[in-house]
Amino acid sequence: MTGSLAGGAMAPGRVLLIGCGPGDPDLLTVRAVRAIAEADVLVVDRLVGDGVLVHARADAVVISVGKKAGGPSTSQDEINRILVREALKGQRVARLKGGDGFVFGRAAEEIAAIRAAGIEVEIVPGITAAHACAARIALPLTLRESVRQFSLVTGAAADGDLDLDWASLAAPHQAFAIYMGVRTARALRHKLLAAGAPVSLPIVVVENGTRANELAISTTLGDLIDAIAAFGVTGPAIIFGGLHWSDANLTMPDNVHVYCASVDCATASAHEASAPDVI
Ligand SMILES: C[S@@+](CC[C@H](N)C(=O)[O-])C[C@H]1O[C@@H](n2cnc3c(N)ncnc32)[C@H](O)[C@@H]1O
Repeated sequence: MTGSLAGGAMAPGRVLLIGCGPGDPDLLTVRAVRAIAEADVLVVDRLVGDGVLVHARADAVVISVGKKAGGPSTSQDEINRILVREALKGQRVARLKGGDGFVFGRAAEEIAAIRAAGIEVEIVPGITAAHACAARIALPLTLRESVRQFSLVTGAAADGDLDLDWASLAAPHQAFAIYMGVRTARALRHKLLAAGAPVSLPIVVVENGTRANELAISTTLGDLIDAIAAFGVTGPAIIFGGLHWSDANLTMPDNVHVYCASVDCATASAHEASAPDVI
C-alpha cells in the first residue's frame, strides 16, 4: 500500500473502491470526496446518490454499471473488465459503490480481478445502509442490556432458497437488518415465524433512507406484508427486526409511520415477547 491510505494523492493506474454511503452526499467521507475529485474515470453503481457525482471533475469519464434487482445489468465480469482496462490505460479509476463496498457489495470479486491484473487497489469504507437508515430514525442497533447481537443479512435469493440461520434470527434478544428483502418479504416472514419469532416482533422498514423520498414504517412481523403493500414499498429498503424505541427508553420519531392491523405495534417491545405465537 502507498501513502494514499493516509490521504495522499491518487496515483495513476490504480483503482479506488469507494463506499459512497446510502445516497445523501453529506454522508461521504472526506477521503471519498478527495478521491472522486481526483479520478479520471468513475465506474458507478445504481444506488450511488446523484449528488455524489458533483465532486467529480468536469472532464472525468462516468461509466454507469447500475444493477437493478431482477432487471438488466452489467455483468460482474464486465465490470471487472472495465476496471482493469481503464487502470491499465494509466487512468485513476474510482469505483463508486452504494453504502460500504464490503457489505453485500461484491467487493471481493472486484479486488481479486484488479489484483490478478497486477493493479493496486485501495478500499475506502462507506456508511452502510443499515447504519444510515437507523440513524435517520434514531433507532439504536444494540442495547447494553437487551440487544447484544445484531446481524446484517440478505433477503436476496437468486435460486429461490433463503439460506439463513432462522433459529438464531428468531431467538430473543437478537436484532437484524435485512438488505434486499422487499421482494422476498413474504418468505422471510414465513421462515421467521416458523423458527419461533412472535408475530408481535417489532419490524421497522426504511425505504430510500437519507434520500428526498425516504419512508419509514414501524410495524410487526405479523403485519409486515400488509404494511409493505399499504405504503407501496418497492425498495431499496432495509427491514429491521427485533428493535424498538421503547426498549431503549426512547420515543418513536415523528418521521416514522405506524402500521398496525393485528398487534399494538406502537408500543411493541422486542424483549417482552414471551412464548412464540402460533403461525
Ligand atoms: C446490493 S445491496 C448494497 C448494500 C450496500 N453495499 C450498503 O452497504 O448499503 C443493495 C441493498 O442495500 C439496501 N440499501 C441501499 N441503499 C439504501 C437506502 N438508501 N435506503 C434503504 N436501503 C438501502 C437495500 O436493501 C438494497 O436492496
